[in-house]
Amino acid sequence: MTIVYLAAAVCFVLGLHLMNSPATARRGNQLSAAGMVTAIAATAVQVVRSGATTGGWIALGAGLAVGAIAGLYSARAVAMTAMPQLVSLFNAVGGGAAALVALHEVSGHTALSVTVPTALDVLIGAITFAGSLIASGKLQGLVPGRPVVFPGTRVTTAALTVVMLGAGGFVAAGVGGTAAIAVLALAATGFGVAMVLPIGGADMPVVVSLLNACTGTAVAMAGLVIGNNVLIIAGALVGASGAILTKLMADAMNRSLVSIMVGGFGTGDNGPSGPGGPAAGVREISADDAAIQLGYASKVVIVPGYGLAAAQAQHAAQDLVRLLESHRIEVTYAIHPVAGRMPGHMNVLLAEANVPYGQMRELDEANAEFPRADVALVVGANDVTNPAARRPGNAVSGMPILDVDQAAHVIVLKRSMGHGYAGIENELYTNPKTGMFFADAKAGLAALSAAVQPLVG
Ligand code: TAP
Repeated sequence: MTIVYLAAAVCFVLGLHLMNSPATARRGNQLSAAGMVTAIAATAVQVVRSGATTGGWIALGAGLAVGAIAGLYSARAVAMTAMPQLVSLFNAVGGGAAALVALHEVSGHTALSVTVPTALDVLIGAITFAGSLIASGKLQGLVPGRPVVFPGTRVTTAALTVVMLGAGGFVAAGVGGTAAIAVLALAATGFGVAMVLPIGGADMPVVVSLLNACTGTAVAMAGLVIGNNVLIIAGALVGASGAILTKLMADAMNRSLVSIMVGGFGTGDNGPSGPGGPAAGVREISADDAAIQLGYASKVVIVPGYGLAAAQAQHAAQDLVRLLESHRIEVTYAIHPVAGRMPGHMNVLLAEANVPYGQMRELDEANAEFPRADVALVVGANDVTNPAARRPGNAVSGMPILDVDQAAHVIVLKRSMGHGYAGIENELYTNPKTGMFFADAKAGLAALSAAVQPLVG
């Protein structure tokens, strides 16, 4: 059996490695899923060998059937824009299941031999369960997206922390029995709620990624509690990769995890706010003006951002690209690691519009291309292009940006002078080489295609 579990673990590791590149990510997912099916089958064989009762079989079969159907249905039915909340729900299920494993162990079925992992399993699992449910609710709009702070928040969180650590200490020391573990589970659940409620909705992707790392850690602890190697390996892989992703996201936003957990910029749901009309020094252009620049360019770089996702304008963007390419104009997409609101947001959207992976450029590659570009077309992106990041003293200072201002001409397509997620002015908009084309991303791209058509047709 050990060898089968080892094979499953190898599938997880190789699958994770294949996810390094968008071109092989699908195969990586399939390989990891094959590893999980193998591990489940091996566990079923173990159950047969241990002589399970009919009741046990019914419980196992029902769990498998309900889980498989719910997982398949939700993954297929979910809209691409609702993916973060689904991931968060899956984290909740993983954390909750891991905590239940330890609770079941202490409830008398097996002698409690491993105590520290049991305490950590319940603690991390319960925090993840409650925190992920709140995160998912915020992203779905069921819980207010703004930071929710009530009088006494800090005192409550501090009290829950003390109770949680105290009860955890009792469980780890093997004293206090089921009462200690029940108190630990309740306090950790409360702490999970209190931890995520005060964080703004726009910071949720980083929080979801952190909770994902916690799910993996809780599962690894559950593996230690019941002595299951494949759970330990799978949990450790999820924990480590989640932690790395969280760090990458925080770095790409140039923010520390602590500053995100203590208080975000806000909800990130800024409408077309900010000053209504163009500010002084801003050059407004029409679709026809923009089309002339695009139609006579030899190299165009498109910079998609949150606004492209909000307008669901990925197909309209690709229609324009095809039109330009038919006139032998070279077009690439420049993708910032935190453009949009979740990791890989732009890659997923563009892949949905059948943009070839070879046409997408990561930050460094893109920045090498801007000086050779005739036009940089920025669609619904703001902070990730703000040159203010190059100097200290503002909300985006130090954030690596796309050097859009290195292109010969810049066209910015957005609805207004409204701010981005960081809530500050974008100095790119007053650069003399920038023309602002004010429109909704989808309608604006369609207008650009219509205006470019006669030039390249
Ligand atoms: P943002 O800086 O948030 O700017 C988006 C812009 O899109 C807004 O200025 C808005 O201006 C415009 N917009 C909104 N709806 C539009 C529509 N229908 N049509 C056209 N434009 C529209 O976006 P970004 O450049 O992608 O940067 C992402 C930000 O999110 C960064 O600050 C990043 O740190 C943060 N963040 C990212 C993540 C991840 S993992 N991606 C996680 C948390 C936070 P108008 O209102 O004027 O149209």
